[in-house]
Amino acid sequence: MAARSCIVTGGAGFISCAISADLMTRFDRVVAVDMMHPQVHKTQDRPAGLAEGVELMRLDIMDATSWDQILATVQPAVVVHLAAETGTGQSLTEATRHAHTNVTGTAAMLDAFARHTVVPERILLCSSRAVYGEGGWRDQADGKILYPGYRTRERLAKGVWDFEAMDAIPSSAAETRTVPTSVYGATKLTQEHILYSWAAAYGTTPIVLRLQNVYGPGQSLSNPYTGIVSLFCRLARTGASIPLYEDGRMLRDFVLIDDVAAAIVAALDSTHALPAPLDIGTGAASSIAEAAHLIAALYGAPAPHVCGLYRYGDVRHAYCLIGPTLKTLKWRTRYTLESGLIRLKSWIDRQLALEKEA
Ligand SMILES: NC(=O)c1ccc[n+]([C@@H]2O[C@H](COP(=O)([O-])OP(=O)(O)OC[C@H]3O[C@@H](n4cnc5c(N)ncnc54)[C@H](O)[C@@H]3O)[C@@H](O)[C@H]2O)c1
Repeated sequence: MAARSCIVTGGAGFISCAISADLMTRFDRVVAVDMMHPQVHKTQDRPAGLAEGVELMRLDIMDATSWDQILATVQPAVVVHLAAETGTGQSLTEATRHAHTNVTGTAAMLDAFARHTVVPERILLCSSRAVYGEGGWRDQADGKILYPGYRTRERLAKGVWDFEAMDAIPSSAAETRTVPTSVYGATKLTQEHILYSWAAAYGTTPIVLRLQNVYGPGQSLSNPYTGIVSLFCRLARTGASIPLYEDGRMLRDFVLIDDVAAAIVAALDSTHALPAPLDIGTGAASSIAEAAHLIAALYGAPAPHVCGLYRYGDVRHAYCLIGPTLKTLKWRTRYTLESGLIRLKSWIDRQLALEKEA
């Protein structure tokens, strides 16, 4: 039987490391392509979480000659596309970088496949809840679903966080319109469109997973632009009171990396067609304040405080329905926010102990 290979772009990152051991049991060869972005990787060392046997190629997905080098040795049956610039707020001040990596990078990968007549059976893209932006809200008067769009600078400056006379509702890929409010979200939506168009033309099966707020062991502890849970843990560990933006009542679906990794693997294993995006979260919403209080309690830090600051591009609420995904994939979530945070804390403690020893 011919050897089966898998390419993972962004292969040294948080999510890739979490799926790498499972990929090694499913493929004869797993190649991680990663340019080791300095904002994500404090050192240029191979990440400890990347499973043994995964070949790490330190190359940039935007570079055509890098792809020529990769495809000269690997004919992937499956591609997991994770390489991205992921800073929601940062994408508003560094739009070019986000657009280049996320949009041009995806196109460069697909052009390389076309150039080398490589047609993977499946390409899985990790997209994001950011594609929904503020999502749908229910009109309190008549129950209709409205799309209020953007929270303007004026509204935020006045401290008007919510949309008046409307209640937020969870997003659902089958129903919620995509109205991204950050450049990052817009690039993730564009990635989806690019993938679907290319895959239809070439006969590849596209799989798009829209991930909620992923946290957990392996997430960069030094990247200041992403990973609010890690950031809160870093602050609480120093004994600081966690500052809460807006009024702290923004809702998020915090999903542990272990559950996300299981969803990605289930999607790759799935024998059904997966023609539409799937939402990946816990299906439960927690406020930022709730998460911060849990983290403060775990570290014995003082109570979090509302600081009144806010960030352009942040959405008020982001959580999703996972019913359709549960029906489609052989997958269940295993962690609540409480149990996930305990797992994260023990990983951070181990990391710090290792750093001390080194
Ligand atoms: N972590 C989350 O909460 C979350 C939520 C929704 C979607 N996602 C998506 O999942 C994917 C993976 O996210 P992650 O959390 O593992 O991020 P990460 O930052 O840990 O990993 C991304 C990796 O991509 C690499 N990379 C960046 N630009 C590259 C380039 N031009 N060429 C090659 N490699 C490059 C980085 O070095 C990094 O190792 C991203 O596409 C992200 O948009 C993540």
